[in-house]
Amino acid sequence: MVTRRELLAGAAAFSGSAAASFAFGGRKVAAREVIATPIANDTKKLFLDLAERPAALPCFNGHTLPLWTFQEGSLYPIVRVKLGERLDTVFKNDLPRAGEYASIHWHGLRIPNDQDGVPFMTQQPVEPGSQGSYSFVPPDTGSFFFHTHCDTSEHFGRGLVGAIIIEGDEVEPADAEYVLMMKDWRISPDGKFLPFTTDAGAAKAGTPGTVRSVNGESKAVFRVPSSANVRIRFYNVDPTRISEIGFEDAEAAIIAIDGNGLDPLMLPSWRLGPAMRVDYLLRTAPPGGTVQLVDYFAKEPVVLAEFNSEGPPKRTGKFEATPLKVMPFPKVDVANAEQIPFIFSATATGAAVAAFGNNASGIQIGSLCLAKRTFWAINKQAWPGMDHKNLGPPLAVLKSGKSYIFDLQNTTPHSHPIHIHGHTFEILSSSMPHVPPHRADTVLLRPNERIQAGVVGGEPGKWMFHCHIIDHQEAGMMGYIEVV
Ligand code: C2O
Ligand code: CU
Repeated sequence: MVTRRELLAGAAAFSGSAAASFAFGGRKVAAREVIATPIANDTKKLFLDLAERPAALPCFNGHTLPLWTFQEGSLYPIVRVKLGERLDTVFKNDLPRAGEYASIHWHGLRIPNDQDGVPFMTQQPVEPGSQGSYSFVPPDTGSFFFHTHCDTSEHFGRGLVGAIIIEGDEVEPADAEYVLMMKDWRISPDGKFLPFTTDAGAAKAGTPGTVRSVNGESKAVFRVPSSANVRIRFYNVDPTRISEIGFEDAEAAIIAIDGNGLDPLMLPSWRLGPAMRVDYLLRTAPPGGTVQLVDYFAKEPVVLAEFNSEGPPKRTGKFEATPLKVMPFPKVDVANAEQIPFIFSATATGAAVAAFGNNASGIQIGSLCLAKRTFWAINKQAWPGMDHKNLGPPLAVLKSGKSYIFDLQNTTPHSHPIHIHGHTFEILSSSMPHVPPHRADTVLLRPNERIQAGVVGGEPGKWMFHCHIIDHQEAGMMGYIEVV
């Protein structure tokens, strides 16, 4: 008998060329790009107040835990901006601990460097009791998110995450849309937060949660229109978990990866590391039916969400996903691109870093957010070796507008979702044929995998480049790229 896992591996295989069309499951999808253009030009105002807000989420099993969130009344705020609109954000740091700095990083948005929200590097961090602000016009459509960039394992661990969605990519509107934020929580049996990071976890695959959730529920249940085409924006906002999601017995097409529209992919599943997103168009079940969203990466498949159909059927004809509009990204000039190797490795030992003042999760605030130990390195350079007063050299210097191929090499037995700030990768090829060429701001490097990721140098500035398993990031697998 063929297991589902083998089936997945087989169906997802592809030939590595960056062809304009692929055959998947016998179906050929032709590339026909529609370029997205601004749909608004006014200014939207956003106020965020970072504070502790105890909550009894459904997945907490009766316990109330001291969450940290961006807004009163919403676990993960969803900010919607239309392409062309400016977003003016004011945020207040009301976090309950002295020295708990904050800044907001807009993950995946290619905005000017001084809006990127990296403490000490692109801005001074904001102290508790103080306010900060951002103002930018998001340049690309898609599903993005925002989070702080210091003491991040604790901030993610307490729920300090929000979604930012840039609208304007639909040629044909979906019948409905749902945003799913997958995140685990580290909770003890008596209902307290466990330490958000551990040396044992940081040295391996990351510190895992104990309770799973989507939108704060163990199994999220959605009431959806019947036989409809609905858009699902699925986010992995866990600091650690790798998942492989798909729909049981339903037709669904991947229409965007990290916000980037692509020729719809009819794949049985998609693997997401921390910070990765995927947009699906799903044909819901007929009246009274249910579709399940499943994580196949777990030992036993786990049902994460259920879509229960209600009302009269919306559509009859066969399921066909119209490609989203795409952004006019500069193409990577592969023939003339300079190759830059990046080797992701373990450090020889878990070298201890000189002690500063530590907070509850052991992160040393005030010295560029270092963990106590380093377990990981990029090109043999471990981030905590550098502090903001003496930043150390960039991992690479790129020229704005020039093409590069990042030769990403994972020499470890763990997966690493590699993220670059302010740019998107053009994933060209891999030593393990499992993903078609696509654009992404975070790419999952499997154990011992090697991936060629094209990059066109973007806005000048210092841009972080790191693993998004937060334990790895904070224990050395972080650096920066300088664009001049
Ligand atoms: Cu989600 Cu440094 O980023
Ligand atoms: Cu990693």
